[in-house]
Amino acid sequence: MRNNQPVTNVETPVPEGRFIYSRTDLSGTIVAANDLFVELSGFSREELLGSPHNLVRHPDMPTAAFADLWGALKAGNPWAGYVKNRRKDGGFYWVHAFASPVRENGKITGYESVRRTVPADLKPKLESAYRKVREGRTLLISTQN
Ligand SMILES: Cc1cc2nc3c(=O)[nH]c(=O)nc-3n(C[C@H](O)[C@H](O)[C@H](O)COP(=O)(O)O)c2cc1C
Repeated sequence: MRNNQPVTNVETPVPEGRFIYSRTDLSGTIVAANDLFVELSGFSREELLGSPHNLVRHPDMPTAAFADLWGALKAGNPWAGYVKNRRKDGGFYWVHAFASPVRENGKITGYESVRRTVPADLKPKLESAYRKVREGRTLLISTQN
């Protein structure tokens, strides 16, 4: 598990109605990033492209969330979930991510993720739910209600 440090409690909210996009190769190396991903992550496009996607991993994210994501994608299925990402400056931003395999001629050639803002009232609930998962006090993350 990659432990990106330091972290601060400064949040950058994702603007309503806008989308953060990235695409990876089969190993999770970033191959495309839109302007909002560059802006929110605080990394330049040059730093993002060619880097593993765990560059933006936040240490508050439970390992189980990414195991779930990779399990779905490798099985050819989409995955949706809430992700707290770390900015280059140590701050963070919450997203609701919809990730899916990219297929060319029926073959999976990479993965992509489209992310949007998270309602403010949900964030404290996600913080405490993910804390419980990290501390091993619950086994599953439910994003249903
Ligand atoms: C299309 C795609 C998008 C991803 N987006 C993120 C992301 O926004 N934040 C993140 O921490 N991991 C993201 N990941 C998962 C990372 O590849 C990685 O599994 C995760 O950061 C955990 O890394 P670690 O096991 O090295 O700690 C994404 C993976 C794929 C395939």
